[in-house]
Amino acid sequence: MAPGASYRIASIPGDGIGPEVVGATIQVVEKLAKKLGTFEIEFTHIPWGTDYYKEHGRYVPEDALDTLRGFDAILFGAVGAPDVPDHISLWGLLLAIRGPLQLYANVRPVRTFPGTKSPLAAAAGGIDWVLVRENSEGEYSGQGGRSHLHQPWETATEVAIFTRVGIERIIRFAFETARSRPRRHLTVVTKSNSMRNGMVLWDEIAAEVAKDFPDVTWDKMLVDAMTVRMVSKPQSLDTIVGTNLHMDILSDLAAALAGSIGVAPSSNLDPTRKNPSLFEPVHGSAFDITGKGVANPVATFWSAAEMLSWLGEKKAAETLMSCVEDVCEDGIVTPDLGGTSNTQGVVDAVCQLIESLASPPVSKVVYH
Ligand code: NAI
Ligand code: MG
Repeated sequence: MAPGASYRIASIPGDGIGPEVVGATIQVVEKLAKKLGTFEIEFTHIPWGTDYYKEHGRYVPEDALDTLRGFDAILFGAVGAPDVPDHISLWGLLLAIRGPLQLYANVRPVRTFPGTKSPLAAAAGGIDWVLVRENSEGEYSGQGGRSHLHQPWETATEVAIFTRVGIERIIRFAFETARSRPRRHLTVVTKSNSMRNGMVLWDEIAAEVAKDFPDVTWDKMLVDAMTVRMVSKPQSLDTIVGTNLHMDILSDLAAALAGSIGVAPSSNLDPTRKNPSLFEPVHGSAFDITGKGVANPVATFWSAAEMLSWLGEKKAAETLMSCVEDVCEDGIVTPDLGGTSNTQGVVDAVCQLIESLASPPVSKVVYH
């Protein structure tokens, strides 16, 4: 930990419950920084989202990327509104940042959290996985088009792009992630039986990169069979890597199998560190509970812990997670986890615990 380090964070709360969970997280992180006294952190509010879109006709201004490059990291809430098609809001804001900033590694730790319970009988002891999603190309490259508009033979193509560079860098990152965890095991997910071009290239590159990691065991799964293995043999998995589309789907399944989407965090990383990385909860803007003050802030707390760890503040990240775990274990949780607390109630409990710390405790989550 660099003593006296100081970080500038771009806060983009976005839509729906985004402002509620990001606001909650800023309170907790500011409290933590003040208590520990080992680093400074400053959040700058950036108002991009659907309100901004309705006013300006676009989700982000033209110089958005330059603005973001002036920060050390980005804390993001959610994007999406009931009266704007989802592909407009998603491409307008989140995908407008992820691609150009080359945040090519989407990392989603999935763990059965205190206060949650895996619905799987086979995972009575809980789940502990890290999912690594290719985040810059593949099925979400935006390639394709529509022809013969409004004719009975109207046609649309959606072309997946897989590049050697893109595949190799994410598989290498996944092997490194696997190596940093006690199990040292990686599962590579493809669909190379029916998709015989891009997916076969994935298989070939995985076998090549694996040679550089003799200390990591690895196996391959077809994505359909992978859903079965996640449910029936959850303990056989540790680190998992796959394409943009496959891991989008598998990570929602993983969060549900672990216990709840309300606690699931994600990191969008530029492992080269040329650009600021973006940290956000897995969940969306949750219109059904927006404004009620009951959104679960834990997914965003955990995302902020991942952010602190990425910035080099591993002790602070562990301290934050330890306090959040203790509060959840005490049953101070929001209604989605069966509790009766509201968002601010969880914030207050975590802040109180941080305030009461004599010396930072050790979390069950260890940041490597
Ligand atoms: P969602 O994640 O917003 O909500 C799904 C269900 O989970 C809802 O019942 C919601 O109340 C509940 N939920 C989600 N987060 C919660 C939390 N923190 N605390 C308690 N309950 C929570 O997914 P949905 O409904 O499919 O999408 C709503 C909007 O969000 C759409 O516009 C969608 O495009 C957008 N979205 C945005 C994402 C992002 O910004 N990264 C990710 C997923 C969806
Ligand atoms: Mg998703």
